[in-house]
Amino acid sequence: MNVKSELLAALASSDGDYISGAALAEKLGVSRNAVWKAVKALETEGFSISSVTSKGYKLNDNNNRLSADLISPLLTTKEIGRTLKVFDDVDSTNNICRELETEKYPHGTTVIADRQTAGRGRIGRTFVSPSGIGLYMSVLVRPHFDLQFAPMITAAAACAAAEAIESLCGSRVSIKWVNDLYMNGKKICGILTEASLGLEMRVLDCATIGIGINVRSIGDSFDEELRRIATSIEDATGAVLNRNRLCAEVLNRLEVYLSKIENRSFLSAYREREILTGNIITANAGNKTIIGEALGIDDNANLIVQLQSGETIHLNSGEANLCRIKNV
Ligand code: BTN
Repeated sequence: MNVKSELLAALASSDGDYISGAALAEKLGVSRNAVWKAVKALETEGFSISSVTSKGYKLNDNNNRLSADLISPLLTTKEIGRTLKVFDDVDSTNNICRELETEKYPHGTTVIADRQTAGRGRIGRTFVSPSGIGLYMSVLVRPHFDLQFAPMITAAAACAAAEAIESLCGSRVSIKWVNDLYMNGKKICGILTEASLGLEMRVLDCATIGIGINVRSIGDSFDEELRRIATSIEDATGAVLNRNRLCAEVLNRLEVYLSKIENRSFLSAYREREILTGNIITANAGNKTIIGEALGIDDNANLIVQLQSGETIHLNSGEANLCRIKNV
C-alpha cells in the first residue's frame, strides 16, 4: 500500500473521530509533512477530509468518492469483496467481472464503478448509471453447487441488498419478485445475474451478480418516464448514504445469504419482503401473457400464480419477464 491508501484506511477505521497528524505519521511510518501532502492529494482526488489544527484529520461522512481503501476495512467477509477493483468509468461492471472470470480471478472478486456507460438490465434493458449517484457493483462467484440452485442466487442477493439498505437508512425495503427492490412504491435497485455453466452441465461453474442501487438524489439524470417508475434512496427517504459503507454492508450480507442457498434458509427473509404475493399480476410467460393471483414464492424462488381458470403455475425468472401489480 502507498501512503495515500494507508492514510485513507486509517481515517476510515477511526469511526468518524479526528486522528492527529502525529498519530497518523507514527502509524504510517512517515513524516507529518508526508501525511499533510497525502491529505492534500486525496482532497484533489475528491475525498472530503476535515483538518482542525488542535485535533488532526477526519474523513467526512458525506464523502461520496468510491474507494477500495474505504470499503475493505468495513468488510467482515472471508472471500466476498476480498479482491476489489474500483473504477471511475466502465461500460458495465458485469462485463469487467466476466473478463476477470476468464482470467481466473477468485470467488468473491468484486468490481465497482462510479459510472457505467452501458449499464445493462434484464431482458436487454439499459440500466441508467450516472456518476456520483448509484452503487454499481458486480461480484464474481464460483459456487460449485448444483444447477438447480442457480436461479436462487438473484433472490439471495436481493435479500442481502435489501437488508443492507434498510440497516443504513432505517426505512423499509421491499422485494418485487424476482430481482427488483422497492421503496415507497418505486424501484431503487435492480439485480442482473449472468451465469456460466460447467462442462459437466449439472454444475454452475461461476456467475456474475450485478447489483445496481440508486443511492443519491437522481436530479435530472433520469428522464421523465424513468422517474415515474424509479427513484433513489435519498429521494425516497431523505437519507444520504455513504456508498462505500453501503457497498461493504451489501458484500457482508451477500456472503451470508449465499451460504443459505443450498439449505434454502434464505427464503423466509425473501418471502417476508416480497410484494407481489397476494396481488393480481400479469406476466409474460413464454410467448403468452398470463393474468392471475400471486400466491407466494415456492422453494425454488419461483412465483406461484393461480390463473383465472383455477390452474396453479410456478413461474421462474427465465419465463416471466414482466410482472405488474394490478390491484394494490
Ligand atoms: C434490472 O433492473 O433489470 C437489473 C439491473 C442490474 C444493474 C446492475 S448495475 C451493476 C451491474 N452492471 C450492469 O451492467 N448491470 C448490473
